[in-house]
Amino acid sequence: MTDAASTTALMRKAYARWAPVYDVVYDKLTEPAARAAVAAAMACGPKVLEAGVGTGLSLGYYPAYAEVTGVDLSEDMLRRAQEKVKLRGFSHVKSLQVMDVTKLRFPDQTFDAVTAQFLITLVPDPEAALTEFARVLRPGGEIVLANHFGQERGPLAKIEEISAPLVAKIGWSSDFKASRIEAWAARHGGMQVVELRSLFPAGFFKLMRVRKVT
Ligand SMILES: C[S@@+](CC[C@H](N)C(=O)[O-])C[C@H]1O[C@@H](n2cnc3c(N)ncnc32)[C@H](O)[C@@H]1O
Repeated sequence: MTDAASTTALMRKAYARWAPVYDVVYDKLTEPAARAAVAAAMACGPKVLEAGVGTGLSLGYYPAYAEVTGVDLSEDMLRRAQEKVKLRGFSHVKSLQVMDVTKLRFPDQTFDAVTAQFLITLVPDPEAALTEFARVLRPGGEIVLANHFGQERGPLAKIEEISAPLVAKIGWSSDFKASRIEAWAARHGGMQVVELRSLFPAGFFKLMRVRKVT
């Protein structure tokens, strides 16, 4: 098995375990960030790609006129998203597909926005995912990320460093900084970071918008 294939297998295994309890652990904690991400994505237009849609916690925050496509590596997580779509009659969810975000099977310029909530820091090659997001976006569209990013410097960075072993136990890492995405945008060309906003709880989660300017 290649490195990439074994990482994918491990990710699927991890989320097969998470899937039954995911909503109980994360629903309330991530709701404000997910709502902010959905609002920012919808401000670009109705055609939205939810990359790493998981169990579909954010799907209920879209208006009825949205046209949402969701992708995820984990069939176990997606099955739960599919159940929500059926039970709650989400006609704005157009399709849910098993797909790796670093190998999207959509034509160029398909979406008004691509949102990835609590995903990008989990992907072994996040730049490959961002490049795919940029490819499937129409010009003027945006990548909208909601995530925890580690502080670059200052007293909070120190606290994160000290608490890292404890925080890692509950699945959050502060190693991934927002500057990694800023560096990708600068290198990629035609992509511009237009916002980095602190969110609940106490700025621990952040919203980042990257616009496809050309
Ligand atoms: C922390 S969960 C977040 C789920 C959802 N976005 C939310 O906020 O509730 C991360 C999700 O990303 C998915 N994932 C991880 N790597 C992926 C990849 N390379 N391609 C597609 N999905 C991936 C996992 O299977 C999991 O469902």
